[in-house]
Amino acid sequence: MNLPPQLPDLPLFRTIADAAQELGYPAYVIGGFVRDLALQRPSKDVDVVCVGDGIQLAQAVGRKLPNRPRVTVFKNFGTAMLPTPDIELEFVGARKESYRAESRKPEVEAGTLEEDLARRDFTINALGLSLNAEDFGALVDRYNGIQDLKDGIIRTPLDPDITFSDDPLRMMRAIRFATQLNFDIDPDTFDAIARNKERIRIVSQERITTELNKIIMAPKPSYGFKLLFASGLLPLIFPKMALLQGVEKRGQHAHKDNFYHTLQVLDNVVETRADLWLRWAAILHDIAKPATKRFDPKVGWTFHGHEDKGARWTPNIFADLKLPLGEEMRMVQKLVRLHLRPIALVKETVTDSAVRRLLFEAGDDIDNLMKLCRADITSKDHQRVARYLRNFDVVEQKLREVEEKDHLRNFKPVITGEIIMQTFGLAPSKAVGELKDAVLEAILDGQVRNEFGEAYPWLLALGQRKGLEVKQELAAPPAGE
Ligand code: CTP
Repeated sequence: MNLPPQLPDLPLFRTIADAAQELGYPAYVIGGFVRDLALQRPSKDVDVVCVGDGIQLAQAVGRKLPNRPRVTVFKNFGTAMLPTPDIELEFVGARKESYRAESRKPEVEAGTLEEDLARRDFTINALGLSLNAEDFGALVDRYNGIQDLKDGIIRTPLDPDITFSDDPLRMMRAIRFATQLNFDIDPDTFDAIARNKERIRIVSQERITTELNKIIMAPKPSYGFKLLFASGLLPLIFPKMALLQGVEKRGQHAHKDNFYHTLQVLDNVVETRADLWLRWAAILHDIAKPATKRFDPKVGWTFHGHEDKGARWTPNIFADLKLPLGEEMRMVQKLVRLHLRPIALVKETVTDSAVRRLLFEAGDDIDNLMKLCRADITSKDHQRVARYLRNFDVVEQKLREVEEKDHLRNFKPVITGEIIMQTFGLAPSKAVGELKDAVLEAILDGQVRNEFGEAYPWLLALGQRKGLEVKQELAAPPAGE
């Protein structure tokens, strides 16, 4: 830590101080930048609060800077932005009521520095550094934010019921900062989250999901999910995930708690430097277990088809959470659907054909799929885990061999519907689809290679067996195929 936080020695801060002095506005660097300075986390966004007109100050600073950057004014917010080569500056006048980044309230009532700090979210975000001539660089810490940084505590400056009712998103932010920084949430603050949780319903899904994704991208996201669950927020913002929690017993048979298992899988994929979407795949891989749970007296608990149901649910879950519905969603969906396949491969003797099928279906996502599957082994029995992981090594070796031989990752079957229609003079129909699938199966089975010279004669022989007449025999795939 860098305590007390020192303002970086940049001429820019002196320029702001000069402009503020000329206008007679006391000015301070405030909020996240000061927190991150203390924590030695890199940060490029600098918020400047002045007791006066923030837009005027931004314009005055802009005039003093050598390249005269353009000031962008957000009149409704009473803020102004000023880009500089290394730092993005945002100016605002101190205000009486709650500070909210996205507040749409047009009229803000000017306030003192004290009032401004009091209406911020957490003590660690209510720190300031003076830009005034008499005490340039001095720390302003009215709410013991530095002590809370040292102790690792997230706490609201005011009564938490007030802070959270000013902006209920702050309940998510509390958990997000705790997770990112590995801090505790002060018990009074935490109790207030549990008490005010229903208020999260007035916050837009986009803002909630932004915080959720930040929790997921933290070094140990399981911690954030445990806080979300314990506070009662999780069933409100992501009910299906909360339903994973719990263990049911029938006689000797108890299934594992799928919530804690999922969190372990999530933490495990983080170790592989997973991006956001692989992390989402980990979160969703068993999401349909509660909906597919059955008790069979002979084998105990089963979750048959949870991977397919989970994959079918994925688009709706993404839509509800306002996550993007393109490539990323499709990758997550594919991983959810295929997550049991590699483990099934290690249980049987690995045949080339099974490996080929998996490569074909997973395509470029095979590496992520293998990461997910390895992460999915969460047994407490270390020998068992080691055994499974060794088996995965065998599967991966096999995947590499088959891929080198057959290049199936982004494989497109050489026999298209067009070729089939031309050859047998067929109109688009179910029969064409069936012939196409039959060729694909033969390729995946290893009966023929995915080359025109091998697959086309195989198609002709198949047609003959089915009594189809050859209308036009092709010598080579049509141009463009
Ligand atoms: N703030 C707040 N309540 C909010 C959002 C923001 O009080 N709901 C205040 C905090 O003082 C915060 C500052 O506004 O430090 C800037 O907010 P923002 O840029 O959203 O967050 P940072 O704290 O900078 O953190 P991060 O960049 O990680 O989001």
